[in-house]
Amino acid sequence: MAGNYTLTIIKPDAFGAAKAGKIIALLEEKGFTVKAARVLHLTQQQAGEFYAVHRERPFYKELVSFMTSGPCMPMVLEKASAVSALRDAIGATDPAEAAAGTVRKLYAESKGRNAIHASDSDENATREAGFFFAETDLIFG
Ligand code: RTP
Ligand code: MG
Repeated sequence: MAGNYTLTIIKPDAFGAAKAGKIIALLEEKGFTVKAARVLHLTQQQAGEFYAVHRERPFYKELVSFMTSGPCMPMVLEKASAVSALRDAIGATDPAEAAAGTVRKLYAESKGRNAIHASDSDENATREAGFFFAETDLIFG
């Protein structure tokens, strides 16, 4: 799926505030197509594994606690150069630094509770899509 696909998660703050529809609409307006989607409440183990790369970071415990605080909505999105296009569309990690019109500028509360996740490389997009979706869900037409 390299190149044209990426993995996003509408995080528990935004999903719980009923912002999923507005966020999906914004992403569709920017040219992304939803190719797979589900809603789930992550366990501590799942959140810990998903963000294992940040295990040594000071915010790791807070991040796992936040990501398990309510349901979230992972999706596979399609667009040309999807990874970089989605990073542009979501904005900087800290909403105070995010550009106007980005998902985080519009919907994030803080650097920790920041509304949305996006894969940071094609390799991680493939790994993260596999984390949430079975291979049979990822046969794209
Ligand atoms: P993400 O992986 O969720 O798309 O976010 P990102 O690339 O913009 O940021 P990253 O450095 O990968 O951090 C992952 C998530 O950890 C939380 N965080 N909190 N309190 C803090 O200083 C802090 N720093 C990071 C955020 O939820 C961030 O999205
Ligand atoms: Mg990241």
